[in-house]
Parts: sequence; structure tokens; C-alpha cells
Amino acid sequence: MKMQRDLDKLKKNKIFIKTFGCQMNEYDSNRIFDSVKKIGYEKTEKYEEANCYLLNTCHIRDKAKEKVYHEIGRVKKIFRSKKKPLVIIAGCVAQAENEEMLKREPYIDFVIGPQAYHKINDTILNYSKKTKKIEETEFDAVSKFKYLSKIKNEAGKVSSFLTIQEGCDKFCHFCVVPYTRGPEYSRPFNQILDEAKYLADTGTKEIILLGQNVNAYENEGYRLSDLIFNIEKISEIKRVRYTTSHPKDMTDDLIQVYKTSKKLMPLVHLPVQSGSNKILRSMNRKHSIEEYLNTFDQLKEINSKIEFSSDFIIGYPGEEDQDFKDSLNLIEKVKFINSYSFIFSPRPGTVAENLDLIEKKISIQRLEKIQTVLFQNQIQMNKSLEGKIIDVLVENLTEVKSKAFGRSEYMTSVIFNGKMNDIGKIVQVKIKDSNRNTLFGEIIPNSDKKVA
Ligand code: SAM
Ligand code: SF4
Ligand code: F3S
Repeated sequence: MKMQRDLDKLKKNKIFIKTFGCQMNEYDSNRIFDSVKKIGYEKTEKYEEANCYLLNTCHIRDKAKEKVYHEIGRVKKIFRSKKKPLVIIAGCVAQAENEEMLKREPYIDFVIGPQAYHKINDTILNYSKKTKKIEETEFDAVSKFKYLSKIKNEAGKVSSFLTIQEGCDKFCHFCVVPYTRGPEYSRPFNQILDEAKYLADTGTKEIILLGQNVNAYENEGYRLSDLIFNIEKISEIKRVRYTTSHPKDMTDDLIQVYKTSKKLMPLVHLPVQSGSNKILRSMNRKHSIEEYLNTFDQLKEINSKIEFSSDFIIGYPGEEDQDFKDSLNLIEKVKFINSYSFIFSPRPGTVAENLDLIEKKISIQRLEKIQTVLFQNQIQMNKSLEGKIIDVLVENLTEVKSKAFGRSEYMTSVIFNGKMNDIGKIVQVKIKDSNRNTLFGEIIPNSDKKVA
């Protein structure tokens, strides 16, 4: 009765969720919404009509905290003459800063870390009774996923994320993730398969398995390779991907999946960070360039269509010209088709926090150089597809609705003359034109019958 009253009160509640950071935060934001829906919340895309504002934050690089306070400043302005919304800070900044945030910004009502989302409904429902601000930041991945597995994943998208692993035990010297996401935890195998089946039943055609160290997945002897093997048996699922992997966990069983799998896509995103063994050692990366190249060679031998993408950190303390050249040499060898590169950003609490920085001007020059080379590879790869016919999984219509949007096997955006009823199908598209990020083409009529 009382619970019903609380629910009735919340019936017209609207939540606005803003997400920063990686795909795992996107997954979490979707699941937070799946959860608060149960207590009567609707989603809104308009700040001003929300009475609950949730910011899902990322702490990976500099200025993360400032971004949060800046966002709250904007909300404050919008709500100056209205009733204040419930303001919740979730995600990795919430985990790292917790009580500090509540002290510094009284406008925040509660902070909740990434492994406490199972408590979000109760926290919202009980909020009005509390006199004290709330902070939920314990690491409890078991309870989080136990709770989330009882609430359906309503992503219902053609391409949906599915988190299988959370946290990290690697402690790279530059990275905050082990502190914000806690120790490595792998969800139970059957819990994941159930979620995958539900996604397939509700329209998903591509599953992207997620984890901070997705290929470290291990639960009761099951590995990532077993998950891929079982997920691809679901007939509605046409494509499987996984991200983000650590080079050290590219075990033989995972490499061998590329021999047998029909649905695992040929793009391997394998962050290397630097091409120099000296820098890798001082980053505590636990792998060498030779080991990385060995994985690359093995995969290429299994399937020459496989391409790599990566992450690079530029200007890590101690990076000399030769180390930077080593990164360029690695790019020359591997020909990454798509990569992210960032200047090193010292993070609080990490080993590299207080190391001597290299000159900013040099870091900027190196970043520009590496991005020029990486972008050239990307442009060349896309150019090489002009005139060719490729398989495209159709995700949506473009904003103006005149064209369709899909993705190639390598995750590149493809815009073409598709229709509403192509959504969810794999069709063939003849590529006519391209730029760095997008391929443009024309659909081959009835081609979904050939590739389905
Ligand atoms: N687990 C993945 C791995 O081992 O490579 C990476 C996950 S991390 C969330 C994503 C990327 O952020 C990293 O690959 C790295 O390139 C970048 N990154 C992490 N910490 C950084 C820092 N302090 N400064 C600059 N870039 C950073
Ligand atoms: Fe961060 Fe390293 Fe863990 Fe990746 S493996 S999440 S870079 S500590
Ligand atoms: Fe950012 Fe946390 Fe992801 S720090 S990159 S949101 S794991």
C-alpha cells in the first residue's frame, strides 16, 4: 500500500540521463533507465522537463571533475525559477570523488558508483525521507548484475551492448579504471546467455560484448571464446563483437575462434598504447611489442581480412624521440585502420600521477603526427572499398530519413539509399564514395536474401 503510494507519486516523473565515457557507461545508463522505469520514470531528451537529472560520468582523462561541475552549473541556471530536479551523479567520477562532490556542490543529491546501480530505485524512493546526502560507492559487482539480470535489457536496438565483465586488476600506471570500477569480475555465463537471447528476441542483430578487460572474462572455466561460440548459435544474431581487450589476454582459444566463427567480425580492437617496449614497461602494460605482433601475425594468418584498431597514449613520461618513432613503426607494420590517440593525462591516485611530464609542445606535435598517419590509414582503407560490394548491417534511417545508416564489418558507418524495411537486415551495398569516417553507396536490390 505504502509502496504503491510512493510509486503513484513518482508516476509522472521524468529522467534526463547524460552519459560521458566508454561503451560500458552507455550500457549502464541504459540499464539504469530499465531499472527506474520500474518506479514510474519516463525518459526525456529535454533537460527542462526532467525532475530527475542523472549524469553518468567518466574519469579517464583530465578535466573530468570540472565537466561535472560545469554541467551542474547549466542545470542550476535552467532550474533557477523552477523546482529543483533530483540530481544524481553516477559513474567513475562519482566513484572517485564521492563525498567530496557532495561537499563541494550542495545541488547534488546523491552520488552512486558504477557497481551500486542495484540500489538506485531504493535510493530514489527513499530519498525524500533522508536528511543526509547519500553516497553509494561500494564495489559490489555480484549484486549489481544479479539485480540487473532480473530486469530485462530493453535496448531493443539492431546493435546492442552487453556487459560481460567489469573492473580491472592490471593497474597500468596511467589508468584510473582499477580504482573506479574495482577488481575484475566476470558475470555468470548463463546470465549473459539469457540476456543475449532476450536481446535477440527483441530485435537485436548484433551483440557487442563489453568489459574493461573483456578478454579476461573467466567464469567457472568459461572464457570469452565460449561466450562467442554460444552467442553465435542464436539464429537471430548475425554479428558478434567484443571490446575492450588487453593484449595479454589474447589467449589461444580466443585466437582460434576466428578460424571457426561465422559471425565474429574481422575488426580486432587491441589497445597497444605505445610501440616502445621501454614505455610499455614503465606503463606496467605486461606485454611486449613482439608479443603484440605475434598475436597480429597469428590472426592475419587465420584470416587475412582481419584488421586491427588501437589506442595510443602520446607523451607518456620518459617518451623520447626514439620511443615515438617506435610507435610510428608499429603503425607502419600493423596498418591500424582506425585508432584513438590521446596525450597522457596524469590521473589522481595512479603511479604515473607524479612523474615528470614531457614538454607539452612536443606532445602536441607528436599527437598531430600520429593522428595524420592514423587518419591516412583510415582514409586509404575506405578508399580501397570504393567500387566494391560490402555487407552492411542496417541500423537506422538517417536523421533526414532520406537515407539509411548501417555499419560495415569493420564498424565503419555506411550511408546509402536504404528503406525502413531494410533495418535489421544485412544488405549488400556498392560503395561509390568515401571520406575518413563514412562510406557512401547504393544498395544491391534484394541482396539481403543473399547474405542473410
Ligand atoms: N582496458 C583497455 C586497455 O587495456 O587498453 C583500455 C581501457 S581505457 C578505459 C581506454 C583508453 O583510455 C586506454 O586504452 C588509453 O589509451 C586511454 N587512457 C587511459 N588512461 C589515460 C590517461 N591517463 N591519459 C591518456 N589516455 C588514457
Ligand atoms: Fe586501464 Fe590498463 Fe586496466 Fe585497461 S588494462 S582498464 S588501461 S588499468
Ligand atoms: Fe571512463 Fe570509467 Fe569508462 S573512467 S572510460 S567511464 S570505465
